[in-house]
Amino acid sequence: MYPVQCVLQVQRTVRWGPLASVSWLLLRTCRAHSNYPSAACPGPERQKNGEQKDFSSRLATGPTFQHFLRNTSAPQEKPSLPELEDPPPYLTVEELLGRQRKVYLETYGCQMNVNDTEIAWSILQKSGYLRTSNLQEADVVLLVTCSIREKAEQTIWNRLHQLKALKTKRPRSRVPLKVGILGCMAERLKEEILNREKIVDLLAGPDAYRDLPRLLAVAESGQQAANVLLSLDETYADVMPVQTSPSVTSAFVSIMRGCDNMCSYCIVPFTRGRERSRPVASILEEVRKLSDQGLKEVTLLGQNVNSFRDNSEVQFNSAASTNLSRGFSANSKSKQGGLRFSHLLDQVSRIDPEMRIRFTSPHPKDFPDEVLQLIRERDNICKQIHLPAQSGSSRVLAAMRRGYSREAYLELVHHIRDIIPGVSLSSDFIAGFCGETEEDHLQTVSLLRDVQYNVGFLFAYSMRQKTRAYHRLKDDVPEEVKLRRLEELINVFREEASKTNKTFVGCTQLVLVEGLSKRSSTELCGRNDGNLKVVFPDVEMEDVTNPELTGRAQPGDYVLVKITSASSQTLRGHSLCRTTLKDSSAHR
Ligand code: 5AD
Ligand code: SF4
Repeated sequence: MYPVQCVLQVQRTVRWGPLASVSWLLLRTCRAHSNYPSAACPGPERQKNGEQKDFSSRLATGPTFQHFLRNTSAPQEKPSLPELEDPPPYLTVEELLGRQRKVYLETYGCQMNVNDTEIAWSILQKSGYLRTSNLQEADVVLLVTCSIREKAEQTIWNRLHQLKALKTKRPRSRVPLKVGILGCMAERLKEEILNREKIVDLLAGPDAYRDLPRLLAVAESGQQAANVLLSLDETYADVMPVQTSPSVTSAFVSIMRGCDNMCSYCIVPFTRGRERSRPVASILEEVRKLSDQGLKEVTLLGQNVNSFRDNSEVQFNSAASTNLSRGFSANSKSKQGGLRFSHLLDQVSRIDPEMRIRFTSPHPKDFPDEVLQLIRERDNICKQIHLPAQSGSSRVLAAMRRGYSREAYLELVHHIRDIIPGVSLSSDFIAGFCGETEEDHLQTVSLLRDVQYNVGFLFAYSMRQKTRAYHRLKDDVPEEVKLRRLEELINVFREEASKTNKTFVGCTQLVLVEGLSKRSSTELCGRNDGNLKVVFPDVEMEDVTNPELTGRAQPGDYVLVKITSASSQTLRGHSLCRTTLKDSSAHR
């Protein structure tokens, strides 16, 4: 029987300059629950060498609180993977290694979570774990979770119930299955998950993936383990993500993490922590590698991508300051210096003129003219901007703490369209936020009509604990009203998007081919500059750079497609020829 024991470990990362951070690490060890082989009935592995008993006694005689405090006196770098060779005193190097255990990773939520999965896997792979895409084969199941709406979390709880059956039915001849919750839900609910769902062995918050080998080693011994520390400076800059299902055409590159905006409805600042940017140099290095691999599209990724600010070197702090979009304000203290998003975009877009650059998700407040001018000037920066409005009512926007009014938002839309004619716009909207009246809702409907977005993401409001809205506002729009308003918004959005997309009919679009269309093996599918899906027949075509050369387009090829029809989500047409991004821009 293991002792119920808690070890509080203080880990201080001392950095010179403004990025100093203090991080706390909680290792929770609990009595093994009934699903686990107990010490009286050890699993096959443990029977071999009694390593379990050994682990517990080492843990008991392990470091004290003072030990960790002593370790904080000298400046230290953040623990990195090579420190696997220097394990904490209660673990051996062997215990930190994966011992060929097979990991099954499942991702929920946004693109940031896909990127987090790639980071987590990169760390585990280096530590000797193997990957499996077959759940039945797995020794470790890790769910990379999302907390943004209640429904997202419910999906995870349902999944945990299914995994419970898998865990209990597991034959004793196999090593016990370990289940871990990674990401936002681990961060939001912390130990509540361990108490509520006894099958969960480990928790790792979004800033704790480097700690996965240690957490798994602790879990392996039958203890529960958790690290839900948020960091002020973790960007995983040195961890090269390993793509789960590598695309031959495009990749996402994380450039910043966290969010300081504190919109009143949003859990993200609480689950992903403070805003911090990855050093420009490491981003450029990753993009160069992707270009060398022949990828044709990179999407710069972050919770608040255009708030990017690289302060990693002292000399960057004297960089000229940039402004917010006109008529916009920020919720957090104004920040100074650092290399800003326009600088990064400029540098990234120079790496490979044949590589398309996109970015998501931005905040409307951070679109100074230099960013817009750059998008206009650079052929390989896509003329596509996500401009999350959330509501069309200034009253609701104020309650949401978005930092702009309907008028300021519309002015920005016009300004963007003046600078970048033909730009494709997309947005997020929330239906039924606290206090939203029918009049407010109609204002959102009219904004959708006025702006005519190409793409939209629409959600019913879901109250989240910890947020400002949870503490200060009333979730007073009945569920059926939220859903009815959501449906109305979806219908209006579709109507307007169909109209907007019909203006493409008769035009020629440059399409980056992704592969065969999902619906038909005789058609190809790709995206235009504005990120709209374009479908066209897979036939032989000429190559502009070499007219002698005819053939079928392959994923990663640029093809000129004449658009013949359009719906709210897809353009259809026929191919004219294969080309290059440079060549097609020259003839635009
Ligand atoms: N309820 C509904 N939608 C939300 N979003 C964020 N928080 C909530 C919430 N509590 C939406 C916003 C955001 C997108 C990623 O998710 O529209 O832009
Ligand atoms: Fe959430 Fe607002 Fe930050 Fe977006 S900008 S992640 S909505 S707090």
